[in-house]
This record gives sequence, C-alpha cells and structure tokens, in this order.
Amino acid sequence: MDMSTIHVCGGNTLCGEVDIQGSKNAALPVMAASLLIKGKTVLKNCPVITDVEHMQKLLEAVGCMITKSGRTMEIDASDICATSFPTEHANVMRSSVVLIGALLGRMGEISICYPGGCVIGKRPIDFHLDILGQMGVEFSEENGCIAARAGKSENRKVMLPFPSVGATENAILYAAASGCAYQISGCAREPEIIELCEFLNRSGARIAGAGTSVITIIGVKKLSEICYRIMPDRIVAGTYLLAGVMTRGLVVLNQAPCDYLSGVFEVLGEMGADLAIAKDWVCLNGENANRSVRYIKTEVYPGFPTDMQSMFMAALSISQGCSILEETIFENRFQVVDELKKMGADIHVIGRRAMVCGVKKLRGTVVEAKELRGGAALLLAGLSADGDTYIKNDVFIRRGYENIVRDLKLLGAKIEEE
Ligand code: EPZ
Repeated sequence: MDMSTIHVCGGNTLCGEVDIQGSKNAALPVMAASLLIKGKTVLKNCPVITDVEHMQKLLEAVGCMITKSGRTMEIDASDICATSFPTEHANVMRSSVVLIGALLGRMGEISICYPGGCVIGKRPIDFHLDILGQMGVEFSEENGCIAARAGKSENRKVMLPFPSVGATENAILYAAASGCAYQISGCAREPEIIELCEFLNRSGARIAGAGTSVITIIGVKKLSEICYRIMPDRIVAGTYLLAGVMTRGLVVLNQAPCDYLSGVFEVLGEMGADLAIAKDWVCLNGENANRSVRYIKTEVYPGFPTDMQSMFMAALSISQGCSILEETIFENRFQVVDELKKMGADIHVIGRRAMVCGVKKLRGTVVEAKELRGGAALLLAGLSADGDTYIKNDVFIRRGYENIVRDLKLLGAKIEEE
C-alpha cells in the first residue's frame, strides 16, 4: 500500500477559492444502483478517489463494463454474470455493503464477505441483514461470507432498527426494481439518501419520502438508461471551511451543497466565523473564529455530522476556552486524539466524550493518519501549527479527497505531497 506523506508548513493565513468535488457518499450508492439498470449509466462529477476505484473494480467483477474519463464514468450493466465479489476488494471498504441490496435486486442472490472500511468501530452489518430479512431476503453464512437470496416478494411495511445510512440505501436498492411495494420506516434522512432516490426516480423508479424517516417504494420492473450529475461533497466542503477557520483566513467554496450544511454553519457561527451563504457557494471569514463551543453532539442527519467531528476537534484545540464533543454514532471515532496531543493539543477523552481546551498554538511534528476524517483533521491542524507537520499514511485521506493538496494550495496553503 502506497503510504506517502503530506508536508504542511504552518502559519499561512488562507485566502482563496476552490471548487468542491463530487460526493463520495453519494457516488458509491449511485454506482451500486447502476446494477439495476440493464443498460448504460453515465455519471458526471464522479469524484476521482480510491473508494470509487474500489467500487468500480467490484462492479467490473460482476460483469459491468466501465469506462472513465476524469470525473465522467460510464457503467454498462447490460450483462451481469456473477453474484459474488473478489474478497481483496470487498474486504477493504464499508461502502461495498450497499452492493448486497443492488445485486440482490438485479440477480436475486449474492455472496459477499464481511465488508471492511475505516477503523472507526467494528462496523457490523446487522441492521442491513435485519431490514432485508424483513423484506423477504433469506440469509445463510458460509465460511466468513454471507449468502443471500431474494425470498417471495410481497407488499410489506418494514422498520429499520436504527436510521443507518447504508442499511437504508440497501433497502431502497433492493426494493426499487422488485416489482413490489414497500413502506420503510425509521429511514436515515441524509442528503445522500435523497440523491440516491433522485437518481433512481430519474431512471423510472417510484420512490416517495426521501429525506424523511418514511420512504415508500412502488417497485418497478424496468429502470431506464440515465445520465446523472453527482452532487457536491458536503464533508469536503466542511473540511475546507475549517481550513479558513484554523488559519483565521478567508475562503470561498464554489459548487458547495449549502442546503445540506446548516448543522455545520451553525457551529461555525458559534465559533465566531462570518459566513455569506448563497445557494451553491459560501464565503467564510475566519478572522474572529476563535471561540470554543460549550457542547457539540454528533447525531444522525440533520444533526451535527459525525464525519465532521474530528475536524472540529482540531479547530477547537486552538480556540479560547474548553469545548465538549460527544460522539454518538461510532464507538471508536477519537483515534485522532493521540496524534493531536503530539502537536500539543489539550484533549481528555472520557467514554464517548472528549473535552478540548484550546491552546495558543499547536506545534508541527510527525503524525499518522489512521482513518479518513482523522487524517483530514491532522492536515487542518498542520495548517495552523508552528513549523512543519508531516502527515503519514495519506492513503487514508485519498479514500475521500480527490486532491486535498491541490485544493488547499488553491486556498493559499504551503503544502506538498512527499
Ligand atoms: C455512512 O456509513 C457513511 N459512509 C459514513 O461516512 C458516515 O459516517 C455514516 O454513514 C454516518 O453518517 C458512506 O456513506 C459510504 P451507518 P454507514 O450505517 O452507512 C452502526 C466517511 O467518512 N451500524 O449510518 O456505514 C455503525 O457501526 C464515512 O465518509 C451497526 O451497528 O453508517 C455506526 O456506529 C465514515 N450495524 C452506526 O450504526 C449495522 O448494520 C451508523 O452507521 C450498520 C451500522
């Protein structure tokens, strides 16, 4: 695995503008959904990141013909031949789990090994098995892999045990082209769910309620070929807004999904950032963004997003006063704490809560990315630190960011990939 290092020279006040890439967490389920279309799907603004590359390999492994040119991907799923995946790909990331619903919907059966993904908690898939079981899918376990078979389909009311993003997506993917009707309660309300349903409806599906906790699907028999543009990535946008906060600078984000950032905007305002918000661009002035925030709790959408937690921890570590961060979604999402402490941050973790007391300045040193968003948080910390910071294992960061070095340079950072 290529474990290259990013070198940041701290201290620059950022001032610049950058375009926001397509959303990783929208592109992955939409790619899975292309399996339901017996023809061609063209995706525009598809982010050029390693998770998308892995998903492409999985789709090709079951018979998709895929061509890619920059951010445009063409997926031909006319002839799907297999119902299982090469383990070297399925085991490396969590997002492969949405292939269960899509391939079951297309082929009626699937065998997949336990999906891997970040180290932020054990990431089981019991909610996925539960909801698909309620929808009539029969499961059996065969040496570390799951064999699933579509059971007799009938109209049903089903209920998710937790508003899991991936499990909601799997239920939608399984039902969309099933020819049966389902009312799914307890759904996740994330924007990426809305995006998936918008994609499917544009290709002829009949889905209502996306973005609410009750989604009704009248499964159709055929979905049509489609060309679709992936929405911008709200977490990448949040990352670059915090780059402006960390350096007390001025950043403008173009092609930003502002409708989906209200939870983030609210906390940025509490920290003292000035925001000018339009429909698809936002300007942040971080000159006075040095206030601590008494209490931030991560919640399912539309609450404060867990994916922004580590990055706000970095920003609050140089604010005035103490802040409490509570992580309620993942049970192990404080891995970045030890690395931030190497830079001089004052952070105490007790269970699911972290108390962050701001220090005047962080100091540059060598730190290690251990997962995607913690890696981004270390980069942000390096932008504000005294001296040079070296972030090792940027392979984790490239899972979700097309080219964070290019983007931060556009904002005025002194940063290089070594
Ligand atoms: C999606 O993961 C995102 N990934 C995550 O983004 C995001 O953090 C998460 O949703 C929450 O918003 C993609 O969309 C590819 P969940 P997902 O199912 O679907 C537990 C990033 O940085 N759980 O809503 O896996 C789970 O362990 C990534 O871009 C079960 O216990 O999230 C977690 O604690 C990180 N059993 C909680 O539920 C299950 O069967 C929420 O997980 C499934 C999940």
